[in-house]
Amino acid sequence: MKTLTSPARQAGARSGVRPGRTASVLAAGALAALAWSFGAPAALGQQKPPQASTADLMRPLYANSMDIAEGKSVAQHFCADCHGSAGISTIAGVPDLAGQRAAYLYSEMRAYLSGARGDDTMNGAITYLSADAMSNVAAYYGSLPPPPPAAAPKTGEVGAEAAGKAAAATCGGCHGATGITATAGVPSLVGQEPKYLVTALGEYKAGTRKNDTMKMMAAPLDGVTASNIALHYALQKPAKASTPSPGNSAAGQTASAPCAACHGAQGISGNPATPSLAGQDAKYLTDALQAYKDGTRENTTMKALADGLDEATMKNLAAYYAGLQPQQPNVRKPLSTAEWVERCDRCHGPGGNSSDPLMPALSSQRAAYLEKVLNAFRAGKRNSPVMSAMMDGMTENDVRNLAEYYASQKARAVVYVPVPPAK
Ligand code: HEC
Ligand code: HEC
Ligand code: HEC
Ligand code: HEC
Repeated sequence: MKTLTSPARQAGARSGVRPGRTASVLAAGALAALAWSFGAPAALGQQKPPQASTADLMRPLYANSMDIAEGKSVAQHFCADCHGSAGISTIAGVPDLAGQRAAYLYSEMRAYLSGARGDDTMNGAITYLSADAMSNVAAYYGSLPPPPPAAAPKTGEVGAEAAGKAAAATCGGCHGATGITATAGVPSLVGQEPKYLVTALGEYKAGTRKNDTMKMMAAPLDGVTASNIALHYALQKPAKASTPSPGNSAAGQTASAPCAACHGAQGISGNPATPSLAGQDAKYLTDALQAYKDGTRENTTMKALADGLDEATMKNLAAYYAGLQPQQPNVRKPLSTAEWVERCDRCHGPGGNSSDPLMPALSSQRAAYLEKVLNAFRAGKRNSPVMSAMMDGMTENDVRNLAEYYASQKARAVVYVPVPPAK
């Protein structure tokens, strides 16, 4: 079997090492690590730990009871402070290891060591372990009974769209039940890209966009809620505001020539950061232009443009845009948690109970850890081409729901019976 082949590591090979002699295994491993860091590997005929083959990674599955006892001793000395006395962690960002697939644990330790899974805490914790010690400690954790599942999330499954709809209940009184305003001076929220709405809410909350009513409304919204609300409005069927528009729309159309570059020829913006104007309430449009002009709404681009407009032209522009047909932005309807789970389970097993020794089980894992890791995959901070591909279209809300879902699934330990390779 191919393993890490530096002489120092081989010196730490398991033969004759019994529980209680872990320290010598580690000391030998420490030599190997030092040799690497001093650039000695060239002299040792080796540049880097070689890439492990799948067969190498299966090592922990061949562990016997002595190996597992040795792994326990390593765990107690070097891992229990963070991962808990029986592999069940009590620290939010630290995963439970009990009952996790042993080959997966081993392969992740190798990934930390090679730098492929950057995490300073873990890199430091295992630097001095030999390959045998890592395999044994993986086998030990894999042999432990898994943690009990967390309580099922109280709210049941709440998708981003449904959560957004619920959170938008307090907005309907002013903005209209489905985001189409019936009140002059209050904008419609339909037909806008989520990105624009989320930014606007953030600005009201921070006070950089001044409006007392909206500051109060936006204050309690966290980032996830704001994006859920924005998604809800983006998925509504848009229609023109049913409010009066007193200006001259033909004159407005002529005056709108310089606006088309950003707001679109038909008032539908092609840039998610620029609002669409089509079908918007006319009084709100006039007020907004006035606010840019007098500086109460701060935006350099729009101030420069509004400076040249008199009150009548503003009204005409407003009438023109209010009369155009709004359009639903191009937003994909998000998957429900059940739909996500169906995809995840294809690899991670039913309810996250993986039966592939190299595929992590997700069942009963700590929700806070799952959430952290999924966000790391989303941000590309934890490198896994497979998992990064899975993250396409996943919202923060989905991450939260999936973490809670898998944390509440009952974990089943899996015993692998290695079959000797055919001769
Ligand atoms: C100082 C605290 C600390 C110590 C000590 C520690 N770990 Fe960890 N461990 C962590 C943290 C934090 C993570 C999650 C890091 C991340 O997100 O990549 C982790 C992750 C892991 C993982 C990845 C699990 C998974 O589900 O992907 C393995 C395997 C692991 N540790 C094994 C060990 C072993 C074996 C030891 C003892 C030799 C050990 N750790 C010691 C903090 C620690
Ligand atoms: C009491 C009435 C009222 C309520 C309730 C209210 N709004 Fe508003 N909202 C307004 C007014 C008035 C404006 C225009 C403010 C301005 O001129 O900046 C506005 C502006 C906005 C804008 C900016 C739109 C744009 O095109 O720039 C967004 C986004 C928004 N509101 C979202 C919400 C959300 C989400 C809620 C519920 C959590 C909500 N509002 C509740 C009155 C209200
Ligand atoms: C160079 C690009 C650009 C041009 C040209 C431009 N705008 Fe804008 N406009 C923006 C951006 C970006 C915003 C969002 C600014 C903010 O966040 O306050 C905006 C905001 C607005 C708003 C506020 C909409 C809302 O929902 O709150 C109105 C009204 C508006 N523009 C009208 C116009 C008119 C009328 C013209 C032509 C006279 C024009 N704009 C030309 C980029 C442009
Ligand atoms: C095509 C197979 C595949 C699918 C589908 C898949 N995963 Fe994974 N997942 C993997 C692999 C492989 C890893 C190990 C990555 C590594 O080595 O870091 C992994 C790792 C993870 C981890 C890290 C576990 C730990 O203990 O650190 C989490 C959490 C996770 N996946 C969640 C999910 C979720 C949620 C979904 C569904 C949205 C999903 N996966 C879909 C293959 C898959």
